[in-house]
Parts: sequence; structure tokens; C-alpha cells
Amino acid sequence: MAEKIILDCDPGHDDALAMLLAAGNPGIELLAVTTVAGNQTAEKVTRNALAVCAVAGIDDVPVAMGAQVPLVRRQAVAPDIHGESGLDGPVLPPANRELDPRHAVEVIIDLVMNHEPGTITLVPTGPLTNIALAMRTEPRIVDRVKHVILMGGAYGRGNRTPAAEFNIWADAEAAAAVFDGGWKRLTMFGLDLTHQATADAEVVARIKAIGSELGDFVGAVLDFFGSTYKARQGFDAPPVHDPCCVAALIDPTLVTTREAFVTVETAGHWTYGMTVTDFDDLFDEPKNAFVGTAIDKDRFWDLAIDAIQRLSDAKKEMQ
Ligand code: BDR
Ligand code: CA
Repeated sequence: MAEKIILDCDPGHDDALAMLLAAGNPGIELLAVTTVAGNQTAEKVTRNALAVCAVAGIDDVPVAMGAQVPLVRRQAVAPDIHGESGLDGPVLPPANRELDPRHAVEVIIDLVMNHEPGTITLVPTGPLTNIALAMRTEPRIVDRVKHVILMGGAYGRGNRTPAAEFNIWADAEAAAAVFDGGWKRLTMFGLDLTHQATADAEVVARIKAIGSELGDFVGAVLDFFGSTYKARQGFDAPPVHDPCCVAALIDPTLVTTREAFVTVETAGHWTYGMTVTDFDDLFDEPKNAFVGTAIDKDRFWDLAIDAIQRLSDAKKEMQ
């Protein structure tokens, strides 16, 4: 049976790829795309989500806008990596449908409360503001959610500060609440894992060779992402973080994880947003997370490219 998921994201170049993998693989049933301010303002990332839907022919999945600012700290966005629009690079088509009128938090709660317990997985790939608000607004969702598998954090180095990864740093109070939430299962894919999923030149060439409007769009997405990752962080190819979570739901054998106690630092002057990861029981705290350590990059890209091909074929058939 397909995994029912809610993708809570801030598109964002790699978030766009997470949307495409979720919509283009039969192993996933994408119940909703909810957006959160992160890579850019909530308005911009929501507009980008609708643009991705338009170019990919994702017509039947509700898209709802969520939190516009973090819980406590001041908002900080990431134009250095994602550009002024949040999805610079490709030409963004206009939205071809309406947003869901509900707030993202309402959509998350409605879906979780109206499905059988233990059937819905939350896939957050932006700051955790919506998820924290949802669990505080309707605490019963915590026991009903099957799995929270999120992109964020690192047990090694950060990327927004030496200690902190962007999604966690952007709303560390929300992240602290989510990691401490008592979910049935929580998985953290941090930079340690996602930096292995780079879009090398050969991958980008395979995507462009699909020869569809969507393939060209993704090619432009990856060209821009590659240029900012090169300029800002010296990467030869950009790491495509967010779709790793979706890929692991489609095929769990793609990744290696290790259980740990993970807590989010919210007080440290230099370490705000750090995901302190205790693999060795040094704190003597119950383990609350499966932490990703490795991904099979080749098989990951086979899945992602297959999804882009499938969405391209489906759109062609509709035309
Ligand atoms: C994360 O931050 C954003 O820039 C990306 O979309 C990803 O979710 C990586 O640190
Ligand atoms: Ca993201």
C-alpha cells in the first residue's frame, strides 16, 4: 500500500524535487502540500509550490499556506542559496488553481484526525513551525501520526552556523518541541546524510535528456542550485536534501539509520539550533530519533529521475 504523506515544505529547489518524487512515485500517496516560511517568505514559497504543481501537472493535491514567521525568533530567509524568489533559475509558470483556503496547520490536523490512526506520515522539509503549531493546537495528532521523517539538523557540522543546519536554526524553538514531542517514530535526515545526495553533472544531464518541459524545469532548478552551492559553500555539485526523506519512505533499504537521543539547543549563544545527537547514551535519556547516516546515491537518483519521467509522460498524455 502506498504511504500516505503530508509534505510540509518551503520550496526551495530541493523541496521542489521532494514534491516531484512524492507526486511521481506510486509508492506515495501525497495527501497535501503545506507550506511554511523558510527559504523565503511564506507567500513566495507558496507561490513556488503552485508553480511546481502547474509545471508538473499536480492538479489534485491540496496546497495550503502555513506559518509566516517562526514561533519566537526573528524571521531569516535564505536568498543566498535559493534566490530572491526562493526558486530562482527556471521561469515560474503562473498558478493554475486556487490555494486551499485553510491554514496549513488546520489541513494537517484535519487530515490526521480524519484518517485511521497510524496511517499518515509527516514529511517536514522546512522549518518546523507548522508541525509545532499543529501538535500544540491538537495534541492528539502525536499519537495518531505514523512517522515524522524530517530534513533538518546534523550530528556533524551545520550549514547556517558551524553548529546548526538551516531548517532547525530558522525556528529552533519549534524544532525543540517537535524532537521532544513523543511521536511514535521520528527520523532525522540531517546534512550528514543529505550531503551524500549530490546532483552531479551526469545526473543533471540525464534529467535534461528527458526532453520534457518538466525535465527542462528541473534542469534549470539544479543549475541555479549548483551555482549558489558552489559560490557559497564550495560544493562541486549541489546536495539535494529534501527528497531524501521521500525516497526513504518509498524504499527504506536506500538509507542507513542509527537510533539516538536528539535534542535541540535553544539557549546557546554560538550553538543556537544545534541538533545535539547522543548515539552513546551519554545523557542517559531515552532514544527519540532514528538518525540517517548514509544513502545509496545511485538508487536515489534512479527513483527521482523515474518520477520526473513519469510525471512528464502523464502530462503529455493529458495534452
Ligand atoms: C535545508 O535548508 C534549505 O535550504 C533546503 O531546502 C533544505 O531543506 C538544508 O539545510
Ligand atoms: Ca527545504
